[in-house]
Order: sequence, then structure tokens, then C-alpha cells
Amino acid sequence: MFQLSEQSLQIQDLARSFARDAVLPGAAERDLSKKYPAELVGQLGEMGFMGMFVPEEYGGFGLSILDYVLALEEISYADASLGVVMSVNNSLASSPIINFGTEAQKQKYLPKMASAEWIGCYALTEPSAGSDAAAQKTKVTVAENGDYILNGTKMWITNGPQADVAVVYASMDPEARHKAVCAFIVETASPGFKVGKIEPKLGLSSSQTAELIFEDMRVPKENLLGVEREGFKVAMGTLDGGRIGIAAQSLGIAQRAFDLGLAYAKERVAFGRPISSKQAIQWMLADMATRIEAARLLTWKAATLKDKGERASQACSMAKLYASECANFCADKALQIHGGYGYSKEYEVERLYRDARITTLYEGTSEIQRLVIAKSLIAD
Ligand code: CAA
Repeated sequence: MFQLSEQSLQIQDLARSFARDAVLPGAAERDLSKKYPAELVGQLGEMGFMGMFVPEEYGGFGLSILDYVLALEEISYADASLGVVMSVNNSLASSPIINFGTEAQKQKYLPKMASAEWIGCYALTEPSAGSDAAAQKTKVTVAENGDYILNGTKMWITNGPQADVAVVYASMDPEARHKAVCAFIVETASPGFKVGKIEPKLGLSSSQTAELIFEDMRVPKENLLGVEREGFKVAMGTLDGGRIGIAAQSLGIAQRAFDLGLAYAKERVAFGRPISSKQAIQWMLADMATRIEAARLLTWKAATLKDKGERASQACSMAKLYASECANFCADKALQIHGGYGYSKEYEVERLYRDARITTLYEGTSEIQRLVIAKSLIAD
């Protein structure tokens, strides 16, 4: 049984109060207006939530991944769009710099990313390299002075329009698949970079997801992240941690759906009694609560293993797979409990239903999580 430390409980409390007082009230409006929540992101930065495990010497709080998971669940409970902005900045953009960056890279980028002065994104996916991440077509060549030149297009990049810093993957030789992939820290203000189409999406409407275009973009040689041609391991190692973040985001959505479903079931009267007295509804609530509990334990376990510095691909994928499917299950059941009202934009469960849908797709589909889990089972 997990016993959270005093510090973890305080972080959870802080995130919960901020989420419920400052984030939840405007979430429906932001969903409709699709407006990026810049002010809230700045506040998250001031609270230390945008660089939670950035070490203190680089301007962060040096907290654990478990603390991050606790905070991210709370923020996502209130607004999953804000949750993904926080998740990408922490797990996908700052984390590879912490784990693979040089001292100079850490000093230059981490303090500004931790405070949210600079926003980060993670640019791996391409129009024809989604689940097959090694099929990178973005090309990198080496200039005479050793700098790198990037050409190509990325897509589905969360925080793309806002990002000041992008962790970008590109190939020296697409035929060589993962063996030629390099990782770079790219400053988006540099010439040769542009934001392309912003995706119109089903959910997570106030986070922005974009195409990124690189046209003869020169990246200084000191911005190579890790070792040349070993960028695929940066990408995959980073995604392990990212998947814990999506599990936490999914938990937030699932818990909110459950709370709304339960409250509605107690208040809505049909056939002369609250519908919570009907076994059909009770079983839905019981299944939701049980799955949420299981998802939370898997997520905390994956975070704890990652905190120990172990490669925890199997645990991260199990957490992401189960929690994301739980979010979809709970959002669906909460909507069902609301009946026709749940289909109306005037009820929050309608947004949760749309927001939940991405969780089994991004940072690796459910099918990819099963593949990762199966690979590690067979290899053991
Ligand atoms: N950590 C470290 N190294 C790893 C690793 C990990 N977790 N996983 C694989 N590797 C290493 C392997 O050991 C292997 O190394 P060697 O060459 O030394 O043997 C190498 O990487 C290649 O591994 P695989 O043979 O397993 O590679 P593959 O081509 O079969 O692909 C895959 C594996 C799991 C399918 C991978 O392509 C994958 O995860 N795909 C999904 C991609 C994904 O999740 N994309 C989401 C992008 S982010 C996003 O969603 C956007 C957003 O903004 C939120």
C-alpha cells in the first residue's frame, strides 16, 4: 500500500486548491473559445509546476516524478487541456535536457523552462512517422563548421505554437531507421523555423497542437542533445516518462467524470427515487471507482520505479494503457448516467468525453503500449 510522504501530500493539496479555485471555473469557457491559457501557465510556472523535477541548481524544485503525477492529476481534473501543456513542458521537453543535456544546455534552458518563461515542446511525430517513430523523414545534414541543418515537417506537436524551445528529432539517413536518429534542442526564434497548420481537434481545445516546419534551419552544433545517431534512445526514454504523465492526466479526467456521475446519480430522480438507488447505475459507479483505483496504483508504481532511476518501460506503458482506457470508460459511463443531458455542451461530462479520447492515442496508442509491454514480457 502506498503511503504518501508529508511533502507529497502538501504538493497534492496545493495543486488541488489551485486547480479547483483557479482552473476549473474557466475550463468550459476556454474549451469553447479554444483560447490558450497563457495566464494559468504562467501561474503554474510561478508555483514550480512547470519544472517539477528540474533540479534546484537549474531553477526547478527537484521534486519526484510521484509528486509530479499527484499534481498533474489535480490540474487535469480541472482542465485536461492545461494538464497536457504542463505534462509536455515537464516530461517531454525538460526531462530529456535533464537526462541527456550538457552542463551548458542545462544552465541555458532549464531555468527558463521551469519558470514557464520559455515553453517547451517535443517534436518527434511526422505525417508518416506516428506509431513507427523510427521512420523519421526530417533530414539533418552537417554544415562545414559542424553545425546541423534541419529540413522536414513535424505534426501533432502539443505546445507547438507557443514553444520557445523544441526537442526535435531528425535522421542522418532515413534508410538506417533508429540507428541514424539525432536529437536537438531547437530555439524556435531562429530562422528556418515556422509553425504550420494548427489542428482543429475533437477535445483538449485550449491546448494547441501544430505542424512545425523546418526549412534549412541551422542548429548550432552545441545544441545536439546526447550523442549523434543515438537520438532514438533519447526519444524512447523520454516517452517512458511522458507516458506516466498521460496516465496522470487520464486519472484526472476519470476522477472528475466519476465525481460528476456520482453527484448526478444522487440528485436525479426517476421512477420516484434517485437513480443512484438503481443497480444499473450502482454497477457503473462501482466499475468506475475500481478502475480508477487500479489505474492510480499502476501510475504511482510506474512513477516510483522511474524515481529509482530504473528503466521502467513496461510499468510506464501499463500505467498509460490502463489509465487512458479507464478515462474513456469513466467519461462514457458518466455521460450515460447523465442521460440526454450528458450530450449537451452545457454539462461538463460532454467535454470530459471529448478530452478523454486523445489519451489512448497520443504518446503511443493503446496498441503501441501493448506492443511495448509484450516485448518486455517476451524478453524477460
Ligand atoms: N528506452 C531506451 N531505449 C529504448 C527504449 C526505451 N524505452 N525503447 C527502445 N529502445 C531502444 C532499443 O533498445 C533499441 O536499441 P538497440 O538498437 O541498441 O537495440 C532501439 O531503441 C530500437 O528499439 P525497437 O527495435 O524496439 O524500435 P522499433 O522501431 O521497433 O519501435 C516502438 C518501437 C515502441 C514501436 C516505438 O517506435 C514507439 O514507441 N512508437 C510510438 C511513438 C510515440 O509514442 N509517439 C508519440 C509522440 S509524442 C506525442 O504524442 C505528441 C505530443 O505532443 C503529446
